[in-house]
Amino acid sequence: PRHLISAADLTRDDAVLILDTAEEMARVADRPIKKLPTLRGRTVVNLFFEDSTRTRISFEAAAKRLSADVINFSAKGSSVSKGESLKDTALTLEAMGADAVVIRHGASGAPYRLATSGWIDSAVVNAGDGTHEHPTQALLDAFTMRRRLVGRDAGIGRDLEGRRITIVGDVLHSRVARSNVHLLHTLGAHVTLVAPPTLVPVGVEQWPCDVSYRLDDVLPKSDAVMMLRVQRERMNAAYFPTEREYSRRYGLDGERMARMPEHAIVMHPGPMVRGMEITAEVADSDRCTAVEQVANGVSTRMAVLYLLLGGSETALPSASARTE
Ligand code: CP
Repeated sequence: PRHLISAADLTRDDAVLILDTAEEMARVADRPIKKLPTLRGRTVVNLFFEDSTRTRISFEAAAKRLSADVINFSAKGSSVSKGESLKDTALTLEAMGADAVVIRHGASGAPYRLATSGWIDSAVVNAGDGTHEHPTQALLDAFTMRRRLVGRDAGIGRDLEGRRITIVGDVLHSRVARSNVHLLHTLGAHVTLVAPPTLVPVGVEQWPCDVSYRLDDVLPKSDAVMMLRVQRERMNAAYFPTEREYSRRYGLDGERMARMPEHAIVMHPGPMVRGMEITAEVADSDRCTAVEQVANGVSTRMAVLYLLLGGSETALPSASARTE
């Protein structure tokens, strides 16, 4: 089986193949009939142990547009609440004939465990694990940046070489930030993380990026500014920054957005907390790509499912090699 566990596993060729395939899938989405017969007869299981709006819905839409059968599993309301283990849940899915399992889990490493355990034969796609990685989010973000910064028609085959991307906020708890840092570095972009000192991960100096504590200094040099939510649910209450202080130093409002170059975009993976990391004025502006990112998520996830489930004999060789 082939898997997508981590953006750090992807070579530049893997990433460009996925982004170029997503570009083809987006063209299908522009047609009156959006469906392809490619995965007819295959079964995709969405296995969600943590809440999700965008990721779960877009994987479902992606699988359906490729004509796969989709089974949605949410831990809430399942036998997981009666104490059933990941292994027994996985064996149940295997018995249902799953060809791909898209898993979101609160524990970092759960998708890797599923992919390497031998419990199931299916392809495994990480849809976000703890504070570790969210590789399809990074791919859809790169797809969005490539379209906006390089140009839609020029998108295929181009990458983000030399672009300056700033990621702002609760980096410590953000699987989105970690996946983006790895993928953007692989694609030749330059990443700067901006966060309060208490929300910078230990060992960040090993990451292929810069760190700054001064948002106003970095904004004028950014091609894209990605705002992150403060993940209170993963935080000890003692670490909570006050909303007012956080917004004053790390929030993006209209005045700060005006410091960005004219071509620069504002990104947010969602869910957004308006008034905390981003004002309504910025969230609703033409420069904010949050809704576009969601639409691009469907094309990107179609590309991932298509490549993993036999759309190409040469799909994701490096991801396969690391998890076999
Ligand atoms: N960006 C993202 O992963 O959103 P959801 O948690 O709603 O899936």
